[in-house]
Amino acid sequence: RYGRIEPSQEKFMAVAAPIQIRFERFDGALGIAPAKPPRVVTPQEKPALIARIKERLKALDAVFVAHYYVHPDLQDLAQETGGTVSDSLEMARFGHDHPGRTIVVAGVRFMGETAKILNPEKRVLMPDLAAECSLDLACPADAFTKFCDAHPDRVVVVYANTSAAVKARADWMVTSSIAEKIVAHLHAQGKKILFAPDKHLGDYIRRVTGADMLLWNASCVVHDEFKAVQLEELKLLHPGAKVLVHPESPASIIAMADAVGSTTGIIQAAERLGAKEYIVATDGGIIHQMKKRLPGVTFIEAPTAGKGATCQSCAHCPWMAMNGLHNLLEVLETGRNEIHVDPAVGKRAKVSIQRMLDFARAHLPAMKGSGDA
Ligand code: 13P
Ligand code: SF4
Repeated sequence: RYGRIEPSQEKFMAVAAPIQIRFERFDGALGIAPAKPPRVVTPQEKPALIARIKERLKALDAVFVAHYYVHPDLQDLAQETGGTVSDSLEMARFGHDHPGRTIVVAGVRFMGETAKILNPEKRVLMPDLAAECSLDLACPADAFTKFCDAHPDRVVVVYANTSAAVKARADWMVTSSIAEKIVAHLHAQGKKILFAPDKHLGDYIRRVTGADMLLWNASCVVHDEFKAVQLEELKLLHPGAKVLVHPESPASIIAMADAVGSTTGIIQAAERLGAKEYIVATDGGIIHQMKKRLPGVTFIEAPTAGKGATCQSCAHCPWMAMNGLHNLLEVLETGRNEIHVDPAVGKRAKVSIQRMLDFARAHLPAMKGSGDA
């Protein structure tokens, strides 16, 4: 799925060729971006790699934070070393609150950038800086600025999955769990909204809040691949299973959900609903944490377009998959792959992020520090 590895290649370097990911650009054109799988880890080398990473984290006074979608080995490492596995916002908050001078982020680039914007005085490293996100790629700052300028009567609300420059043009940044509440709050004040970049998330929020929302055209290559007919069939095979859906999914998938939520929201819903089986419509990496928290419960990945070699993501983000044990150790040994954000851009971007953090503190005290404000 992530490119073919020739046996001769594996012996010497164990690096697969990059795969090319297709995504829809904001103007409807086809965009293509590479995703390079990390070097394969053999069972023989894994224990020594993990031990060395732990040593280096200590030596550098570094904290390791990981997203739910990265490889289980990295999730376990974050938890075993006093770091965290969570969503992008909590990853950044955690790094901020932690006394460590260096934050190592296993996720995609916007997550490292958010960590840097909130913690400009700290060093932020990532295993691979080319770990993109189709939402971020489909929302270039220049085109987005023009769009905003053409609609000066609208409050600009952007999703966390954007570049620092896009956040800098926004009035508010939101994550998936707080987006609905912030839009409802703005709607109650009679504000009209411009929302970017995720059209599915935007459409979902528009339907539940009734707000006047103008949407950017972009989607997540992973969630966009979930298919309603196949999900209906899977539900017939598992009549007792509850369906958990991330709001980056199309409306036809959301319509079948027993719970819609952010990554942390999905985990919390599984804990709350008490079913024996769940069908999970988000990146399958999250199931590692769900199994840890709910042993004995069955989790089934929601079906995607195509099967095996014919699906693009197969419910696994190809850019999240770029994080591995080898490239993690490499950045810890070399200090390479540091995230830099232009300080002036970072300062402006922080305003939209801070607005969301302040809102969460004032309106949702229980969510503070929950991992998914
Ligand atoms: P969460 O904020 O819900 O973790 O989502 C991040 C993401 O990229 C989902 O695809
Ligand atoms: Fe972006 Fe989708 Fe990957 Fe999340 S899963 S980082 S939204 S491409």
